[in-house]
Amino acid sequence: MRLEPITPHIGIEVQDIDLREPMADEDFAKVRAALNHHSLLLFRNQRIDEGQHVAFSRRFDPLLGHVLKQFLKQQHPEVYVLSNVRENGAPIGNHKEGWNWHSDLSYKTEPSLGALLHALEVPPVEGDTWFSSMHAAWEALDAQTQALIRPLRATHSYAGYYGKAFADRAPLSQAQKAATPDVSHPLVRTHPETGRLSLYVGEDVVKCIEGLPEHESAALLARLNAHATSERFAYRHRWRAGDLLVWDNRCTMHRATPYDDVAYRRVMHRTTVAGDRPF
Ligand code: OGA
Ligand code: MN
Repeated sequence: MRLEPITPHIGIEVQDIDLREPMADEDFAKVRAALNHHSLLLFRNQRIDEGQHVAFSRRFDPLLGHVLKQFLKQQHPEVYVLSNVRENGAPIGNHKEGWNWHSDLSYKTEPSLGALLHALEVPPVEGDTWFSSMHAAWEALDAQTQALIRPLRATHSYAGYYGKAFADRAPLSQAQKAATPDVSHPLVRTHPETGRLSLYVGEDVVKCIEGLPEHESAALLARLNAHATSERFAYRHRWRAGDLLVWDNRCTMHRATPYDDVAYRRVMHRTTVAGDRPF
């Protein structure tokens, strides 16, 4: 196994690994350490099936389902599908998921530790995914801003995200809403394994910063989101079929980008690793 950093602040490629084979414990320990220190792992040319994807994902920790159950694979409900493809009149996956900066499942009390996204079919151009290091973003803030935001908390809302991202769809059902109540998280969180701090924000999913008048909350949120997603902390991944990306949701944000969804198919499988409560 060889490790090649992608950028100085985020991402490392793991080479000479075939994820169809069970990974030795000692190699997995290196992969886990690389995730903690580089926040994003890339494995190219992985011809894994759903079962192998799930088996590798489980090595990180238990897996989570999703409130949009229609996009989970029947045989492997740990696999959530993102796609523009329709079969028999119904979408096979959630289209336009994550087209805004976010950290997965931040709208839950215990958000996701990380996710493993496997590219099955990708358009020849565009449909890239941006990743940004929230450690780098936090560390680049001036001391005054750091002191101001360190004690603050924000409200994250799935219903708010859904209403903005999927305004053209039927709204969430009462049961789906009840399953995703708004939650409060610190604006600055500690990586539970390394102790390093990071900024914990997000575009549509963060409703407000608590305890501030509405206009101040909106202005500070806009400023922090703009800072967090600045290109100097980011990496743009140009997908090839067979890529598997693993990211650490505790210290990164990501955003999918548009593509020609009439001409091309994009089919991505995601597993989502359970995490703990941000502090
Ligand atoms: C995700 C996600 C972005 C993409 O899988 O969590 O946000 O580019 N995906 O599909
Ligand atoms: Mn996502």
